[in-house]
Amino acid sequence: MRKQIIIGNWKMFKTNSNAIEFVKSIDSQVESNSNLIAGIAVPTIMISDLSKVAKNIKIAAQNCYFEKEGAFTGETSIPMLKELNVEYVVIGHSERRDIFKEDDRLINNKVKALIAAGLTPILCCGESLEIYESGKTMDHVKKQLSDDLKEVSSDQVKNVVIAYEPIWAIGTGKVATPEIAQDVIKGIRDYLASMYGQEFANEVLIQYGGSVKPENIKEILAQPDIDGALVGGASLVEDSYLGLLK
Ligand code: PGA
Repeated sequence: MRKQIIIGNWKMFKTNSNAIEFVKSIDSQVESNSNLIAGIAVPTIMISDLSKVAKNIKIAAQNCYFEKEGAFTGETSIPMLKELNVEYVVIGHSERRDIFKEDDRLINNKVKALIAAGLTPILCCGESLEIYESGKTMDHVKKQLSDDLKEVSSDQVKNVVIAYEPIWAIGTGKVATPEIAQDVIKGIRDYLASMYGQEFANEVLIQYGGSVKPENIKEILAQPDIDGALVGGASLVEDSYLGLLK
């Protein structure tokens, strides 16, 4: 049976002191459960302090650069994250793709570098409203996955988590119905089976993201192919974060 993975995505919210207070307060209320991976992807500057207070939840990163070191002003390397015991790194979020113009080639380099370092990329994919309305969701998502996983072998891919996040559902309150999310995620699983074989496809964890809240997470996670959620807004408030894990 696949585990569940629920990761908050704080984006560029909170300050370090707010964040420490939050994690101190919720961490002891999160029961350690071997079937659930619970975490929060936080701004890089908070990782060091939060890793010291988090025992039951994983402190994840929202981004990284693929080179080990060098003249890359403003970037964070994978060895820097690794030293702070980061295990999961969100890669290719639609905000990084749209606002910061990250392309599939860069995302592919990050995925490969993370796997090589033994960290787990949470690789995001998902379509715009325009693509969704034109019925081309699956073509778009397959292209993203094939480009972003280029040169990733069947052995290496075992360490990847996929997050399907339709852009039209992010931060809009417009959640994809559980049926829409299930259909696309089943399509992703089938596509990964064609790339890497059925055994991997049966095991890979695939999250849904886009306006997930405590009120709707149950029916989303009840879908057979959805293994968890990547949650923005609803992960910023303590009760609501804890509500996602119940
Ligand atoms: P949202 O964000 O839950 O606020 O829609 C999801 C995400 O961007 O990962």
